[in-house]
Amino acid sequence: QLTTHREPAQLTAVTRALRGAGRKIVLVPTMGALHEGHRELIRHARRVPGAVVTAVSIFVNPLQFGPDEDLERYPRPLEDDLEACREEGVELVFTPGVEHMYPPGSDTRVVANALADELEGAVRPGHFAGVLTVVAKLFHIVGPDVALFGEKDYQQLVLIRKMAHDLDFPLAVVGVPTVREPDGLALSSRNAYLSPDHRARAATLARALTEGASVSARGADAVLERARAVLATEPALQVEYLELRDPELGPTPASGRARLLAAARLGGTRLIDNVPVQL
Ligand code: PAJ
Repeated sequence: QLTTHREPAQLTAVTRALRGAGRKIVLVPTMGALHEGHRELIRHARRVPGAVVTAVSIFVNPLQFGPDEDLERYPRPLEDDLEACREEGVELVFTPGVEHMYPPGSDTRVVANALADELEGAVRPGHFAGVLTVVAKLFHIVGPDVALFGEKDYQQLVLIRKMAHDLDFPLAVVGVPTVREPDGLALSSRNAYLSPDHRARAATLARALTEGASVSARGADAVLERARAVLATEPALQVEYLELRDPELGPTPASGRARLLAAARLGGTRLIDNVPVQL
């Protein structure tokens, strides 16, 4: 049985009562336009051991959009999203308005660490401060025991995990592997912006990363070289960055676990992706 709440205080009362009754709250924060990637997070949530209540938040957070970004045209198919939540057995959906999350005068922000200015943050100034601020608010409003985030937005996952640790949020931040289309393209609400021609070309980004990762036995330089060579085969892809980092997004390690991350523009659409690498 699904219930939706628009008022933060109302949702807080509901989750507090459920927690008091011994239920574990698992939160999946989203901006809606739910696709198979979001559904995978929800299915993971329902599999968390314990008497789990799955809560999904749907809120297009204006704070994390730059002035030239797609805030206005970001898809908001609320009825479809509620139907998807129903199909996946979600109990609680939180759908606040901007007036609830940022009433006039609400101007306190979470300050992210230096990583927030690198990679995505270098291209999208202020983006992660906006993400961390809304996620901190959601954590306070919902009070989850576990919160799930996709590896698709790997830097976001790392920064949220760091915030939860540094600011003592009493919850576990769990990452879920990226869900992909058959040709490898990572599912994203923004894929809907791609023209059919660009959609056909988009999978080159994922292929570059997997081919790069496939030569990891030959070292970091070989990984980057191979990925760069594959990206170069698709002139429509304007690469913004391609980097090999350690799993916490520090400098490239000499050996062991690493992450290969890339962002590219295809027409007017930004694509990001990343894969694990074992050096
Ligand atoms: P949104 O882009 O809607 O994504 C919600 C969650 O779904 C994120 O944790 C994201 O990483 C995950 N996700 C998206 N595509 C995925 C895929 N193909 N496979 C697996 N997981 C995927 O990320 C946000 O919203 C916002 O920044 C938010 C955290 C809600 C804060 O506003």
